[in-house]
Amino acid sequence: MGSKEINSEWVDPNIGQTSWIDPVSMEYHIKQWDDPKQSTKAFYDFFKRELANSKKVVDLGAGAGAATFFLASKFPSTNFVGVDQSSDLIIKAKETSKNFKLKNLDFDTGDWFDLGNKWGGVDGVISIQTLSWLPEIQTPMKQIFEMIKPNWIGLSSLFYEGDISARIEVFEHCKPRKTFYNVYSLKKLNRLANDYGYEVVTSDRFEIDIDVPKPKNKDIMGTFTEIVNGSLDYKRLQISGPLLLNWYFVLLKKIER
Ligand SMILES: C[S@@+](CC[C@H](N)C(=O)[O-])C[C@H]1O[C@@H](n2cnc3c(N)ncnc32)[C@H](O)[C@@H]1O
Repeated sequence: MGSKEINSEWVDPNIGQTSWIDPVSMEYHIKQWDDPKQSTKAFYDFFKRELANSKKVVDLGAGAGAATFFLASKFPSTNFVGVDQSSDLIIKAKETSKNFKLKNLDFDTGDWFDLGNKWGGVDGVISIQTLSWLPEIQTPMKQIFEMIKPNWIGLSSLFYEGDISARIEVFEHCKPRKTFYNVYSLKKLNRLANDYGYEVVTSDRFEIDIDVPKPKNKDIMGTFTEIVNGSLDYKRLQISGPLLLNWYFVLLKKIER
């Protein structure tokens, strides 16, 4: 089944758009070129060893390319290709990247649900804040395992450490806008990976190290942080509207035989 087919379920009859268009606006994508997100910097930190030791890395769901650009600027000897299904975003990524003249950065359109063998054999595949907004995890992961067969895969998305997955439907009634969040079970991901000769090697919660204020408008989704004090330590929880955001960085590797 192609992603367009699955996503058509999420076309909001009131606005006639899929759930991707509005939540991930062009403004959101472009702003990041000048001002990388904390989560992108943390992604760099978490995966720097794998990124530095790879000849070529494909970033799936790269949007307008800001995060791919940030990583490419840190690792000049690693070639990066940012791939997105939206040709508008890829055009924007190509245009914007011309200003920076990086030799190790390229962009291309592609559907994660139908990758073909264009990127087969690259060392690493990454995906930043995308997987939880795909309709499901099996098909896209299977595409990576079978069509690309990388040595390692680096993901940032919403996960849960137990054997529970959740799909949350979000209705912003004032827009009106309908979206969904998938929180995937790490145990289920590991079982799926094992079926294709991969395993989850590390999974770490992304603990943001800055406070993000609560949006004034409570009627739209938008990340903010709240501090929870324990007896010895405190944690910053990331929340959007009524939802707790379980951000994780997950590293998968081929099982060595
Ligand atoms: C939330 S954005 C993340 C963009 C970027 N990785 C970042 O962190 O800023 C998710 C991106 O995934 C893309 N996307 C959604 N479905 C896709 C698919 N089937 N194949 C490739 N890209 C897809 C969307 O067009 C969107 O640009």
